[in-house]
Order: sequence, then structure tokens, then C-alpha cells
Amino acid sequence: MELINEGYLQGLEINLFPESELVSLFNRKVKSLINNQSNIIEFGCGCGNNIRMLVEYGYNNISGFDISERAIDIAKTMINNKYNNTNVNLFSSDFNKLELDKKYDLIIDRACITHVKDIKFEKVANCLETNGILLSCCFFEKSKTYIPRPEMYDTVNYFTDFKEEIEKYFNITYIEKCYKNLNGEKDINYVNFIAVKK
Ligand SMILES: C[S@@+](CC[C@H](N)C(=O)[O-])C[C@H]1O[C@@H](n2cnc3c(N)ncnc32)[C@H](O)[C@@H]1O
Repeated sequence: MELINEGYLQGLEINLFPESELVSLFNRKVKSLINNQSNIIEFGCGCGNNIRMLVEYGYNNISGFDISERAIDIAKTMINNKYNNTNVNLFSSDFNKLELDKKYDLIIDRACITHVKDIKFEKVANCLETNGILLSCCFFEKSKTYIPRPEMYDTVNYFTDFKEEIEKYFNITYIEKCYKNLNGEKDINYVNFIAVKK
């Protein structure tokens, strides 16, 4: 946790926009499955890029947490400065210590699960209603174009390693592999997927 907090203090992970691929995937594959009253939570929401997207899209029940208190402070400030009267529930917690008082219809996870030490997918599934949706963006495998970021993260879980485990609790309904160009060759760097709780 100290490592990540320190990263945020140094301004390493502070972006102003949501990742375009996440916005695209959300619009193409998830929007039609939920409604404005759906309960949505973002794991590892950082400074709230994707939370702001959800606010702008008009969702009314949005939560987000991050292991970094510093990131949550930034997220709260950015959201309060830009939007009035939003009812967004942001809090700091390590996923492994997370305690929720309700179940959610949708989890958004952009690069949190891929960094959680000893990730347990049963616990991920327990955050969701039956048929709840997980939209996740994770590193695919130890690829040649993966650049480690030891200044922020000491754990990387790869999709190829945890796929079997996640399928105990979820049906993976959609996968898109994201390639990077490596001297003219395609290298699968990360994967975006949608999984529905069994
Ligand atoms: C690559 S950043 C992405 C931030 C945000 N999801 C986005 O798309 O802008 C990954 C985030 O996961 C958070 N994270 C890593 N391990 C975590 C854990 N065990 N519990 C909660 N958050 C964690 C980090 O603090 C970081 O903010």
C-alpha cells in the first residue's frame, strides 16, 4: 500500500481521462445490460477517471474504492470540483480487506485485479448479485511488451494464469485481446473481458 500511495504522491498515476478502450467496451457491451439505478462499483478506482465517466452517463448508484488513500482524496476532489450534488461513494480499502454492505450489479475493474496480491475470485463474485457483471482489464500473460512498474506495483496476476480459477465462479462471455507492436510482430499485452457471475 505504501508503495502505491507513494506513487500517487509523486503524481505517477494521475490521469484526467478514462482509458478509451474501457469507454468503448463499456458502451459496446455493458451499457445495454444495466440501467441508471444499477449498483455499480469500481475496484481500484484510482483518482476516479472511470467514476467520472459513470457520473456523466447518469448512473445514480456509484461506488469506488482504492487501496491508496491519496488516490481517493484526489478522486473526491476531482469529482466534487466538477459535479455538484453527486452521490458517489468513494472510500479507501485494500480489496483483501473489503467489506461491502450490499451486492452490486456491475464491477468495473481496470487493472486492479491484475495487481491484487493473492486475488480470490470467490470474493470478487461475492460482491455481485447473481448474473452480476464483471468488466475487467488485466494483463494477459508475461508478454515481451509488458513493462513492469516496480515503483507502483509489486504483484502482477496474468489472465492466462487465473482464467481457470475465475471460471469456477463466472462465465466469461466476451474477451478482446489487446496487441502491441513488437518490431512488426503482434504481442498480446493485455486483455479486456466481460464475465457474468454464475
Ligand atoms: C493502473 S491503476 C488504475 C486506476 C483506475 N482504475 C483507472 O482506470 O484509472 C490500478 C489501481 O488499482 C489499485 N490497487 C492495487 N491493488 C489494490 C488492492 N489490493 N486493493 C484496492 N486497490 C488496489 C491501485 O492503487 C491503483 O489505483
